[in-house]
Amino acid sequence: MSFYEKKILPKVLDLLCGSSPINYQRRKVVPKVSGNVLEIGIGSGLNLPHYNASNISKITALDPAEELTDIAKRRIYELDLNIDVMNCGAEEIPLKSKSFDSILVTYTLCSI
Ligand SMILES: C[S@@+](CC[C@H](N)C(=O)[O-])C[C@H]1O[C@@H](n2cnc3c(N)ncnc32)[C@H](O)[C@@H]1O
Repeated sequence: MSFYEKKILPKVLDLLCGSSPINYQRRKVVPKVSGNVLEIGIGSGLNLPHYNASNISKITALDPAEELTDIAKRRIYELDLNIDVMNCGAEEIPLKSKSFDSILVTYTLCSI
């Protein structure tokens, strides 16, 4: 992996995906999820501040890009949410079927 992919691209993605118009859309969707949640393609964790913590029992998040989930893990640290992060893609999710109440996917299907 190049220096650009490892160090620059994750920060650029985090900046662009964290812009006001995109956060406006996140605020409309993310607070609606509840229970045991699967987030596919968590990226740098920009949805995390928008979860309604009182409705969440646990979040399992996956993303193949470790350089992005490293940023997400820093955000998790600042929040009172029960979250497991897995570095894998959505094509083969190593979890039991029908084990989630909500599945959240934002700005990710274009990448899969
Ligand atoms: C534009 S970013 C969006 C990140 C995040 N969902 C958000 O709303 O900010 C696209 C994400 O899809 C992830 N991704 C790419 N291929 C994937 C795959 N096969 N399975 C799951 N996530 C994938 C990327 O690593 C990246 O984090």
